[in-house]
Amino acid sequence: MSEMHEITDAPKIIVAIDGYSSSGKSTMARELAKRVGYIYIDSGAMYRAVALYALRQKLFNSDGSVNVKQLLPHLPQLTITFQKKAGDDGVQHTLLNGEDVEKDIRDMEVSSHVSQIAEIPEVRERMVTLQKEFGKNKGIVMDGRDIGTTVFPHADLKVFVYASAHERARRRWRELQLKGININFEDVLRNVEERDRIDTTRAVSPLVKAHDAIELDNGAVTHEEQMEWLMHHFQITLEKIENES
Ligand code: DC
Repeated sequence: MSEMHEITDAPKIIVAIDGYSSSGKSTMARELAKRVGYIYIDSGAMYRAVALYALRQKLFNSDGSVNVKQLLPHLPQLTITFQKKAGDDGVQHTLLNGEDVEKDIRDMEVSSHVSQIAEIPEVRERMVTLQKEFGKNKGIVMDGRDIGTTVFPHADLKVFVYASAHERARRRWRELQLKGININFEDVLRNVEERDRIDTTRAVSPLVKAHDAIELDNGAVTHEEQMEWLMHHFQITLEKIENES
């Protein structure tokens, strides 16, 4: 029996991958989903889409804070969906109210405003509702900050990814360079550190490792090693569930 056949026949599970910004968790999550034929959801992209919307609607105050009162009535109407683009190596694009905003949500302006958006309890509540909906049939890999703690506390496999702020900033800076976005490394590092600070200290769903998550130090391994490690844990989890049923 081929490996793919075994996976197709196996029960579908929920995989939650949490960690710091630019820790490489999205790359791992996306590739795992592709290899095992699961849905992949980048929950950070959802907060980024809301930040983009708020920027476009001029809902940020001059001091960088969000005009929450004005933002809240917009939330119920916001739709955030994902679509695979043909001819783009099947890369998934984020759609905000039907518009492809994949490129816009990755720029520095959104990156430096998104943590303020992700701090707002009502925004989190709305995103978590949408995220739970995506996972209702299992067979999903979702990455973010609170997936193993809040969105899917009963996820079958939980991973928490680490890497130093310097290593993460280096990775992010290189990604931006490759996209033709020229930016000072120090600015990227400051942005990474500031996002860490906000993500770990916010009142609602701060970034913490779920007690039952397995850890990966992503600074010290190659992409192939990460994937080997992740596939191994995915297979073990499936076997455990099959043995229990
Ligand atoms: O992973 P990312 O850098 O694209 O995330 C963008 C922002 O959204 C970041 O500031 C953290 C926040 N976020 C969150 O609060 N909860 C999640 N589940 C995912 C992202």
